[in-house]
Amino acid sequence: MTAFDRVWLDAHLCTMTGDGLGVIEDGAIAAKDGRIAWVGRRADLPSAALVTTRCGGAWVLPGLVDCHTHIVFAGNRAPEFEMRLNGASYEEIAKAGGGILSTVRATRDATEHELVAAALPRLHALLAEGVTTIEVKSGYGLDLATEARMLRVARRLGAARHVAVATTCLAAHAVPPEYAGRRADFARVVADEIIPAIAAEGLADAVDVFTDTAIGFTADETSWVFEAARQAGLPVKLHADQLRDDGGAALAARHGALSADHIEYAGAEGIAAMARAGTVGVLLPGAFYFIRETHRPDIAAMRAAGLRMALATDLNPGSSPALSLLLMLNMGCTLFRLTVAEALRGITVNAAAALGMADRGVLAPGLRCDLSLFDVSRPAELCYWIGRNPCRGRVVAGEDA
Ligand code: NIG
Ligand code: FE
Repeated sequence: MTAFDRVWLDAHLCTMTGDGLGVIEDGAIAAKDGRIAWVGRRADLPSAALVTTRCGGAWVLPGLVDCHTHIVFAGNRAPEFEMRLNGASYEEIAKAGGGILSTVRATRDATEHELVAAALPRLHALLAEGVTTIEVKSGYGLDLATEARMLRVARRLGAARHVAVATTCLAAHAVPPEYAGRRADFARVVADEIIPAIAAEGLADAVDVFTDTAIGFTADETSWVFEAARQAGLPVKLHADQLRDDGGAALAARHGALSADHIEYAGAEGIAAMARAGTVGVLLPGAFYFIRETHRPDIAAMRAAGLRMALATDLNPGSSPALSLLLMLNMGCTLFRLTVAEALRGITVNAAAALGMADRGVLAPGLRCDLSLFDVSRPAELCYWIGRNPCRGRVVAGEDA
């Protein structure tokens, strides 16, 4: 009897163990029952397997994790993009009833089938680059029926494709038209009705809020929603300090959030509080670029605090119509000055941490055997190209996907 179901040879590995890339040149990986059973230098491989895959000198990373997407939505916001090119700001458009609310109108009108059909090509684009786990947020329904529909669509994407999907209820994303001028009342509805109902149906793995003093929810309102999440046994995340310093980073830390996302304007104190709380900082360079933000996240403060940093697409129709996680590597390095190791850890081990998933993101025995294989000469090449996809294959739970 062989000890392993399958081994991968002729590969260089970025294991992501330790603080850096955890490189093993001329390495091997063995899997058993969908889990990694052994990782190391090929010369040390202890035994054979039923199936041997030769990787042709590819670099193998843990399956990529896109830990922040709004991939389920109807319509698009190209008209709004044109308005912004003519001088309107993201915030002005939102205040005038466009922005997120225009996607809410389209999404409320769409059937579950239509939402799946719209999301699938976007999902395919991510998977083609080596993504094996994605997070999907609701937040374009803003009523129970549509929020639940979006989350059902997200679950269906996970069931239909070789990808793991983590769902997040973002019902507190914007104030719907029927609650115009009554933001606090809507936050109460989210906390008292929407979160408990979504949790009872098992539709969400986490809860998120867009906290912002001008177009989002206040700290108090955020706390009501987070308290509902706590009662439902769900971890929390926060869209924080995207457009100004609202104290979002510290708020996320106070609530023990899995992650605080965007954080362009987060100050050093909030960043240090996040690091102490174990809250991951999710950087979203696609949104920074697309809304032509100029205030960069304080990466130096994040490094000084020892904050775990992740990178994600924020794939959404308004602020980041980005279908490429590899492009985010390049943008994270060029726009935010991340190192190659920071960027690559940001879409593997730290992205998994942002989802509270301790079973992936690293190549180590006992973890899920999710792999992404790339035809590159060195890991830096993954961050270097703009618009090249060197992914030669994905493995999900030990199976070719
Ligand atoms: O992550 N900031 C709020 N939410 C999204 C944008 C959603 C939209 O504009 O449709 C974001 O940037
Ligand atoms: Fe987002």
